[in-house]
This record gives sequence, structure tokens and C-alpha cells, in this order.
Amino acid sequence: MNLILGIESSCDETAAAVVAEGRRVISSVVASQFDIHGRYGGVVPELASREHLRAIVPVVREAMEKAAIDYRDLAAIAVTQGPGLIGSLLVGITYAKAISLAHSLPLIGINHIEGHIHAVLMEVGAIEYPALALIVSGGHTHLFEVLDGFVYRLLGKTRDDAAGEAYDKVGKLLGYSYPGGPILDRIAPHGNATRTRFTSPKMKGNELDFSFSGMKTAALRWVESRDMQDEIEKRKQFGKAVADPTTEEWLAVTPEATRDFVASFQAAVIHELLWKASASAQQIGAKCVIVSGGVACNVGLRAAAKAQLAIPAHFPTPILSTDNAAMIAAAAWRKFELKQFSDLTLSARASLPLA
Ligand code: KG4
Ligand code: ZN
Repeated sequence: MNLILGIESSCDETAAAVVAEGRRVISSVVASQFDIHGRYGGVVPELASREHLRAIVPVVREAMEKAAIDYRDLAAIAVTQGPGLIGSLLVGITYAKAISLAHSLPLIGINHIEGHIHAVLMEVGAIEYPALALIVSGGHTHLFEVLDGFVYRLLGKTRDDAAGEAYDKVGKLLGYSYPGGPILDRIAPHGNATRTRFTSPKMKGNELDFSFSGMKTAALRWVESRDMQDEIEKRKQFGKAVADPTTEEWLAVTPEATRDFVASFQAAVIHELLWKASASAQQIGAKCVIVSGGVACNVGLRAAAKAQLAIPAHFPTPILSTDNAAMIAAAAWRKFELKQFSDLTLSARASLPLA
């Protein structure tokens, strides 16, 4: 049984996992930095690298202990090379190189987005190709054609904010804690989604590109046109005072008009993601859609994708949708089999392309 240790540190999660032959997760540890970045309402790159430095050794040690293995039991070390925050990526890469050198293990650099795609493939097993991949997270909103043999072609991407970033910014604007995405998703079913109309952005050039900054501006205008400061301040204080509030607790500090706005915003984001996924799937004759990244946790998106797409939609279990290292170790399996190893010159690349 070939075991690969995966290390992920591209954004605000320090993660390590041991995966057997690209499929079976033996251990997976994720240390999140929500508490650190929460008070700023978004990821602060310098703080993220500092946290990764603090967390990397205990996180990797915990993954190895949970798997009950020694470095001698490993076949390779896989690490996220990019895209991501350069200072954050460097921490994982440097540590992976050190382990590789100290234990004479092959090193495999992995594209973070390819990792998200493998989060789905490791669970569903065989799929029919060509597939369409929709990667939606706090840092990415991309559409790729996926061909057999893991060949990727970029079909569209966001020109401004990523979908998760839009959720987090609108959440912050309304006074919810960071990250706003999961909170807005829980509030949305309790509002009337037809109350506020968001206009779909007109894309010049590639129609399959996304733009979410208009929705953020619409949210700002909506807030500014109302007397909401007391309501927003109340939510901010509530979010600071209560650790991990329940949906009912958030609803108690969310009046009906705001619930309706959140529901309308969520419906607009889902509409945008799905009509473009549907158009791209048609364009390439896709047999299925792979949806991954933090926003793939979205309950509304999951339900709408199953109901509206003409082909099967595969989502990872939520724990594998957000950043983790099991997907990095899984993506490394084929490269391991093909002996596509990296050497110690492997460098972090903030905007490493996939296609
Ligand atoms: O993949 P991920 O962990 O990190 C990045 O690579 O960015 O994604 C985190 C993003 C955050 O923006 C978060 O708000 C969003 O995923 N997210 C959600 C949900 N759960 C996480 N957005 C909408 N609905 C959710 N249920
Ligand atoms: Zn990610």
C-alpha cells in the first residue's frame, strides 16, 4: 500500500493528510485560522504566513500520528505549489522539502485547483469524460474542461471577486462573522428570494467569465439606502460574544427584510454559477459536472445543481470541499505512478495556472 503525505498551506488553513493510493484517507488534519482573520473580515496575508509557521509542525505530526505511521512508511510527499498566498505557500513547500530531504522521499508539487478536482474524483471514482469542473471558493471561481488523463482547459473565470469572497464581503457588510458564506447559506432558506432583483452582469468577450463585484456593490447600495446601522452593530456584537452561533441564534438577530435580501443574494449567486456551468457543459459536451471548493458546501447550490443541470453533478463531502490536504495527496497519486517528481528547486507560485 503506497501512502502519500499531503501538505496544504495556500491560504488560511494549515493541513496535512495521509492518503493511500489516491483514494483512501488514512488521516486528515486541518487547522483553520478563522479566529485570527475573523476580526479583520478577511484573510490578512502576513498573519496567515505567521500562523502557518506556528501550525505546520504540529499539524503534520498529528496527521502522521493519527495514521499511526513513520516517515519510512511513506512513498512520497505532496505539497501545494500554487495558486495561493506566496508567504503561506512557502511555509508548506519549505517543510515538505525538508521532510523529503531528511527521509529521502520523492517530492510532488500539486496545483491547488487540481487538488479541489481530486476531492471529488477520490470519492466518486470513475466518471465519464469530458467533464466540466466548477471550482468555487474564497480565492477561485473557475470553469475547466477536464479530459481523461487529467488534461485541463480553462473555459471561464472570475474577472474580479471569487464567489466565496463575494459571500464573505456581503456577510461582513451585513455584520455577520467571518466567513460569511456558511452563515448566509443557513439564513437564505428563511427568506424570500424574489424580494430583491440582482441584475446578471453582461460580460464583454468571454461570456463564460464571471463577475461578482457588481453584487457586492448592489449589497452596499441596499444597506446604504436603509437605516440599518443599529441592526448591523447588534449582529457584530452578537458574533463577537457567541462562539459558533446556531442558525436560530443568527435568525433571531436577522429581521425579515435582511433575510429576504440574503435569500435574494444567494439565489443570484447560484443562478450565475449554474447558468454558466450549464452553458459550458453544453459547449464541450460534458458528461458530468464536478463542483468543488468551499462554496461547494452551499446547500442551496447543491440542491439547485441536482435539480437544474441536465447531467449528473458531483460534489465532495463538505469536509473535502473546503481546503484540506487529502485532496493534495490524492492529486499526487497519478504523478507518483508516472514518477513525475519535483526536485528541491520547487518554488511557490502565487498564480500557478492549471491549464
Ligand atoms: O476552498 P476554501 O476553504 O478556501 C479557498 O481556497 O478559498 O473556501 C473558503 C470559502 C469562503 O469564502 C467561505 O465563505 C466559502 O468558501 N464557503 C461557503 C460555504 N461554506 C464555505 N460559501 C457559501 N456557502 C457555504 N455553505
Ligand atoms: Zn481552495
